[in-house]
Amino acid sequence: MSQLSEFVSSNHDRNVEELKELLRIPSVSSLSEHKEDIQKAASWIANKLKTIGMEHVEITQTNGHPIIYADWLHQENAPTVLVYGHYDVQPVDPIDLWETPPFEPDIRDEKIFARGATDDKGQTFLHIKAVETLLKLENKLPVNIKFCIEGEEEIGSPHLPQFLSDNKEKLACDVVVISDSDMWDRGVPAITYSLRGLCALEFSLKTANTDLHSGMFGGGVQNANHLLVQLLSTLHDENGKVNVAQFYDDVLELTEFEKEQIKALGFDEEKLKKSLGLSDLTGGENDFPYSEKISSRPTLEINGLWGGFQGEGTKTVIPNEAHAKITCRLVNNQNPEKIQGLIKKHIEEHAPEGCTVKVTLQDTGNPFLTPIDSPMIQKAARAYEQVYGKSPVYKREGGSIPIVSDFNQALHAPVVLMGFGLPDENLHAPNEHFNLENFDKGILTICSFLELM
Ligand code: BES
Ligand code: MN
Ligand code: MN
Repeated sequence: MSQLSEFVSSNHDRNVEELKELLRIPSVSSLSEHKEDIQKAASWIANKLKTIGMEHVEITQTNGHPIIYADWLHQENAPTVLVYGHYDVQPVDPIDLWETPPFEPDIRDEKIFARGATDDKGQTFLHIKAVETLLKLENKLPVNIKFCIEGEEEIGSPHLPQFLSDNKEKLACDVVVISDSDMWDRGVPAITYSLRGLCALEFSLKTANTDLHSGMFGGGVQNANHLLVQLLSTLHDENGKVNVAQFYDDVLELTEFEKEQIKALGFDEEKLKKSLGLSDLTGGENDFPYSEKISSRPTLEINGLWGGFQGEGTKTVIPNEAHAKITCRLVNNQNPEKIQGLIKKHIEEHAPEGCTVKVTLQDTGNPFLTPIDSPMIQKAARAYEQVYGKSPVYKREGGSIPIVSDFNQALHAPVVLMGFGLPDENLHAPNEHFNLENFDKGILTICSFLELM
């Protein structure tokens, strides 16, 4: 065993205990009752960065949640690596389905269970530990390092773009490294070279100026629920394609090479169907394979709809109001604001007679795509090979990290997405966990990556 891996494994228990401290802080970014916890998590990380020897550690308050910056800049002729991660987590509901409480980290079967264990406290922590390890062993780092850790990723990073443009100098770097994605499978690392973007909107539909008795008025006036369903059904065609004019205009199609690559990865649809309790995987566009649909094609989903009576028993009412929430996953080169506009127009133009609609535009985030033969990605690949004994798979991710494309554009630096999660770690769901087999290996891979620079 090398000195490095010996050091990492002899510190394993202490490192895991430290991660548990961070996981105990319920830093849920979307719920205002956790505002204090968010501050606690930010301070915890800032203190940790100081303890391991990072300098200029700063917590910047925003109108939302704080951003942590730190650096170590003592390698004059070496490149500068910027590490991004997020310390905020998703809400925990439904809480009843957790086997152990979400903010009381528990280790079972070599996995650590807690909200944030894989997304993204656990993975961000690996970078902190890699830097600590190298500083302890060598007293210096092979490169210059900057950290930028935020607390609003799970709510769409509303304040980070401003921070990036206000601090371009300070954040200047040769590469941005992010561990907030997953591997392909146990023992099979992956580099994510594409993320989907997204846009959100909601609308309400109104008919009469009040709910009406369905006996006195039924048969003669419009029902808001009926019109909502009619309108929503115009959003897709019978082949599962999004039926909004110009929606696909800017979609960058996969190359034949990429299609072959995705096929060659051999996605196990039978296994997935079984694990989801489904008899088919026929969502979305009929004329695309499942693995392309979930990674490289845009979607439009109705995330919620409500209207009328939801209580116990029967109510003979004609509702005068109904609502729907919609989000899209977008791919290069779709523009989220443009797509929002197209959908708004579609909803207004397809609103059935007898109602008014009001559309509200919400969050947007750009898609991301980077060439896999870039030198930085190749260095990450070598690092994985050294530690996992296997070349990484290159994959497109269906999820989003909206700030990635901003980093890419604002800092003119390539972004490397080196994930250490596994696809079945229940992120955003009950019983989120991180497999500890990727804990020491993750630290070692990051150390190798920094050394290969
Ligand atoms: N880390 C995830 C994104 C992700 C998931 C990457 C799985 C790779 C594999 C990130 O924290 C996330 O959940 N993003 C949200 C963004 C949204 C809340 C703006 C998403 O994709 O829904
Ligand atoms: Mn994440
Ligand atoms: Mn997430």
